[in-house]
Amino acid sequence: MIKASSAEIRRILENINRFNSTPEEGEGTTRVLFTEPELESRKYIKSEMEAVGLKVTEDSVGNIFGTLEGSDPTLSPVWTGSHIDTVLNAGMFDGMAGIVCGIEALKMISRSGITPKRSISVIVYTSEEPTRFGLSCLGSRTMAGALTPEDMKRLTDKDGKTLYGVLTELGYDVSALPDVVRREGDVFASLELHIEQNRHLDDAKIPVGIVRGICAPTNYEVVIKGVQGHAGGMAMEDRHDAFMACCRFALELEKLAKSSQGEYVTATIGRVRVYPGAVNVIPGYVGFSVDIRSIDMESKEIIMAQLEKVKAAVEEEYGVSVEMRLDNHDIPLKCSETVLNVVRDVCKDTETESMELISGPYHDSLFVGRFAPAAMIFVPSKNGISHSKDEWTDFEDLATGTQVLAESLC
Ligand code: GLV
Ligand code: MN
Ligand code: MN
Repeated sequence: MIKASSAEIRRILENINRFNSTPEEGEGTTRVLFTEPELESRKYIKSEMEAVGLKVTEDSVGNIFGTLEGSDPTLSPVWTGSHIDTVLNAGMFDGMAGIVCGIEALKMISRSGITPKRSISVIVYTSEEPTRFGLSCLGSRTMAGALTPEDMKRLTDKDGKTLYGVLTELGYDVSALPDVVRREGDVFASLELHIEQNRHLDDAKIPVGIVRGICAPTNYEVVIKGVQGHAGGMAMEDRHDAFMACCRFALELEKLAKSSQGEYVTATIGRVRVYPGAVNVIPGYVGFSVDIRSIDMESKEIIMAQLEKVKAAVEEEYGVSVEMRLDNHDIPLKCSETVLNVVRDVCKDTETESMELISGPYHDSLFVGRFAPAAMIFVPSKNGISHSKDEWTDFEDLATGTQVLAESLC
């Protein structure tokens, strides 16, 4: 197998990074699903796929496939890939690394004169980030049958546009959405490369992580209704302050996550809206998001049950109402031992130092793993930073990961 080119990986990553709706200094990269930069980046990636001889196709939810055809078209294919959409003010690696390294891996395989028996596709999954529609992994979720056309008609962005409507406007054939769904046996195996987004590899100075499992999110939208009032006029004991109630709820949630017996549990309140939002007004209404993750369903369910008690206690203490709407409750993935063993063997054979990890962040593989044996390879994130303009991965580390990816895919 020829060597992965860190220069090529860098070139394509830097080119993708130019498709950015926040290009101002210090603002990082923002590429939200089906905005102009995201649509332009799709065209660019298709051109890079074609340049290395991949056959490009796209399904009805916008998942893009770049396929290196195998010698036996009757066999189920092998998949790799990730996403090109970002959170707001992100870096240039989360998601994109998996696509660029996937293209490089397929180029290495074909330029080494290897014709794999099975076709291998590098996939750009539509909108792994929930940035536009508030729900993650739209493309891979649809493939897993967990996002139906009916769901897409209900899913709206901040302007009230539905995913179904946007797909239709862009000319996707929504009547073919049922064909996006994959069943067991349709895909032989899947291996996604991603940056770690945590500090284990960087701390240990190990270039490759072998991912045993992927945590899954549970998301609530919470609304606390209190009583709006005058910040100077109302005594502390007379208040029903929705924001103070929210703070108590948040601190209790933090305690629940920190004291959980689960192997890996996180809880985050990442978006809070305080109304009416003025310095001299006691907030009457607060809306906020809750994101709870774990590698096992049971730990999440224990926290969910305890949160019901927190809700009741906060209502009682502050004289407010707390409404919790469960929007999403995804199932964590245990990665396929068969695929993991392939990666373990490649690391051994190529004398690449590796380390076994679980992923706190979710990935498209969480959903691909519902219908195919799936696993992931991680490469180091500097200081574990991600979802930030300061996200960084060395191109040499990406090349090392690509080498392991390429050897594992064929
Ligand atoms: C994906 O970006 C996540 O939030 O885990
Ligand atoms: Mn992300
Ligand atoms: Mn990602």
